[in-house]
Amino acid sequence: MAKLKIQPNKQISKIHKEIYGHFSEHLGRCIYGGFFVGEDSPIPNVRGMRTDVVEALRKIRIPVLRWPGGCFADEYHWMDGIGPKANRKKMINTHWGGVTEDNSFGTHEYFELCDQLDCEAYVNGNLGSGTVQEMSEWVEYITFEGVSPMANLRREDGHEHAWNLPYFGVGNENWGCGGNMTPEYYANEYRRYQTYVRDYKNPDHDGPASIQKICCGPNVDDYEWTSGVLKTCFRHCESRFHGNLDGLSLHYYVHPEGWQIKGSATDFGDKVWYKTLSKAYYMDELIRNHAAIMDEYDPERVISLVVDEWGAWYTVEPGTNPGFLYQQNTIRDALVAGITLNVFNKHADRVRMANLAQTINVLQSVILTEGADMILTPTYHVFDLYKEHQDGTLLESSIDTGAIGMETEYHLPWITESVSEDADGVLHITLTNASLTDSCPIDVEIAGCKAAEAQGEIVCGAMNAKNTFEEPECVKAEKFTDYRIENGNLSLTLPPRSVLHLSVKKDA
Ligand code: AHR
Repeated sequence: MAKLKIQPNKQISKIHKEIYGHFSEHLGRCIYGGFFVGEDSPIPNVRGMRTDVVEALRKIRIPVLRWPGGCFADEYHWMDGIGPKANRKKMINTHWGGVTEDNSFGTHEYFELCDQLDCEAYVNGNLGSGTVQEMSEWVEYITFEGVSPMANLRREDGHEHAWNLPYFGVGNENWGCGGNMTPEYYANEYRRYQTYVRDYKNPDHDGPASIQKICCGPNVDDYEWTSGVLKTCFRHCESRFHGNLDGLSLHYYVHPEGWQIKGSATDFGDKVWYKTLSKAYYMDELIRNHAAIMDEYDPERVISLVVDEWGAWYTVEPGTNPGFLYQQNTIRDALVAGITLNVFNKHADRVRMANLAQTINVLQSVILTEGADMILTPTYHVFDLYKEHQDGTLLESSIDTGAIGMETEYHLPWITESVSEDADGVLHITLTNASLTDSCPIDVEIAGCKAAEAQGEIVCGAMNAKNTFEEPECVKAEKFTDYRIENGNLSLTLPPRSVLHLSVKKDA
């Protein structure tokens, strides 16, 4: 019997809801066909946005949506995507399949989407191939309420008021597709570009007024990038760092068989199951190591680590455009999501935003579409379970199970967990069981409290169980009943290959 120890009196940090964020790029069928079908489409939509998709994402309380890329961001020129659609420039999407981008989804459409989703905006600017002026004018166009050339242009384009822009990325992957820069070169560029990302503030609008600037951080374990960028920025910003740099990004994808081969999304065996999940848990080590470097410069943890691209990246589905990165999603992905989100929760004092790549029809999506049809993936259901952590308080907790896996290198904790308390004092416990074969009986010890009542939902199934357009509900969240409360003591049995959310009311 394993023991999960929870200490309600040890509150660690707020779990910022933005940890449950998503990422949408002009890539494959994410924007076009995924979010956006246009007003004239027979697919039900509101001002071009698919109604089914908007409703599904609102249900999981999507907090923030990053756009327009990814690699696409550093080739995107925002003025191509405003004004009458017939006049918008057509361009080649050089990164993703060489297809024509007609720019029918641009700034106005993006903010309309955020509005319908009721989520925050995170726009990624073009530092790689755009000018300082272009970036500065985009921010003016979006956020300036008064009279100015760009604010006037926005009004001419049909939007009277400024939008809220809580997050702005100054370049994407500038160590790679965003310009192949060295850390020092990028950091100097960052300092220059961010100077002109003006904070016009909209005190009359709801929500955060100031723009948080996100600096391009490392790829995976590139610790030299993290220290190189911070060193160059700090040398000149020093105590004025806050406001000039609010977040440092981290990108990490799980490729079961490495970057070149990647591996099938649905056809895999036991060894690859553990390999994938151990690679998902590697996020914990990455965050610890990058956060330790950040601590040297920013011991008060003012700067957030923003994991704005994460997820499993497999070989594309057979017969699909290799440049579209379309992949299926199984119970293995539910575990990847559950494990990673538990890791993020545990690091909530440094990780204040994360964006799963990518919301619809690309990589570890929560939604897949085919024409007018839409299905929810196993990953969607995990986000549905975990949404109760959003803006909760992370509590000290631990579990005493050991590692699980095959061969020496493919190990991870058998059970991962995280626990938060919401504003009503209800505990939210999320657990993952990575074992392919074994159930885990767990005693839950809540220090100083008794459990009064509990309710749970679980996602579990065969390791490669998935939803298809023919069988859309093969994997879904089910009511969890395998728990007992006796004399205020809570215990449960967690089945193999499962992700669980249990809410627990404490005895008054
Ligand atoms: O998510 C797909 C791509 O992965 C993004 O465009 C890029 O930032 C990363 O390399």
